[in-house]
Amino acid sequence: NGKTYTLSNGVTIPAVGFGTFASEGSKGETYNAVTVALNTGYRHLDCAWYYLNEDEVGDAIQDFLKANPSVKRSDIFVCTKVWNHLHRYDDVLWSVKDSLKRLKLDYVDLYLVHWPIAAEKDGQDKPKIGPDGKYVILKDLTENHQETWSAMEKLYEEGLAKAIGVSNWTIPQLEQMAKFAKVQPQVNQIEIHPFLPNTELVNYCFSKNIMPQAYSPLGSQNQVPTTGERVADNKTLNEIAEKGGNTLAQVLIAWGLRRGYVVLPKSSNPKRIESNFKSIELSDADFEAVNKVAEGRHFRFVNMKDTFGYDVWPEETAANISA
Ligand code: A2P
Repeated sequence: NGKTYTLSNGVTIPAVGFGTFASEGSKGETYNAVTVALNTGYRHLDCAWYYLNEDEVGDAIQDFLKANPSVKRSDIFVCTKVWNHLHRYDDVLWSVKDSLKRLKLDYVDLYLVHWPIAAEKDGQDKPKIGPDGKYVILKDLTENHQETWSAMEKLYEEGLAKAIGVSNWTIPQLEQMAKFAKVQPQVNQIEIHPFLPNTELVNYCFSKNIMPQAYSPLGSQNQVPTTGERVADNKTLNEIAEKGGNTLAQVLIAWGLRRGYVVLPKSSNPKRIESNFKSIELSDADFEAVNKVAEGRHFRFVNMKDTFGYDVWPEETAANISA
């Protein structure tokens, strides 16, 4: 799937990116998965400091480029993200350089603030954990992201990232940022799948020329929500896939692409890495049928409030439980 979009600053971004968050986290898993992905044709890798595997991603990129001289560094779009404990100005700049060292690159294509939550650090390499077992929140930097964002603008100016953006930002947070940002965020990476279509936020982003990127586009296949139904179990979605001779994942990826944003499927299984990259077209009727499944749903799989001790979406919690 070679589809691309253009970000607000003219940077080209491949529409399907490969998520590198390795749930197993075992040594070598990320290296192997990224190698399969690059060999399959993925040219967009979605990384993060938090995934603790940027070294392996970097090794896989290096080895792939060596083995494939016709592919250049500039053919691969690499994104990584700064974690919550490094939101202070100097720490953001330290973090991007540390990620670049691990990725063995001299620039990333996209650098994101991973969460709109700032926490105290316990040395550069670790967030500080409080007596309650949760992050120690820095209230000032969490309520106003100007300091963090000005460091993002600085590293953008210096060419350490070709584009900058945010992740898990809400509309009010984007509105606040628009007031002080000299460089508006080019991307907002958020959870999107048919159980969390996030339509209002997606449309808001489009209206501001901010490209949404969908994480967990497959609805976190292995997680069982409190509602009891996983996206993977939904009858209508499975029927659409079977009828067309496609996998459910292919339908979910095609739905995201047709809605116009970047989709970031992840897998550590070579067969699934490959089949996820095979593009399929959704007919108008099937697209509408998926939209219908999604209508009115708002079920979030990823909410780190138990880890962070801070809820980005407090107004949603009750809705999730009763959904
Ligand atoms: P695996 O690595 O065994 O393929 P999400 O990005 O929505 O959180 O989903 C990621 C999960 O979906 C991973 O656990 C991954 O498991 C699984 N997955 C990825 N591709 C497919 C697929 N084509 N069919 C079923 N499960 C998939």
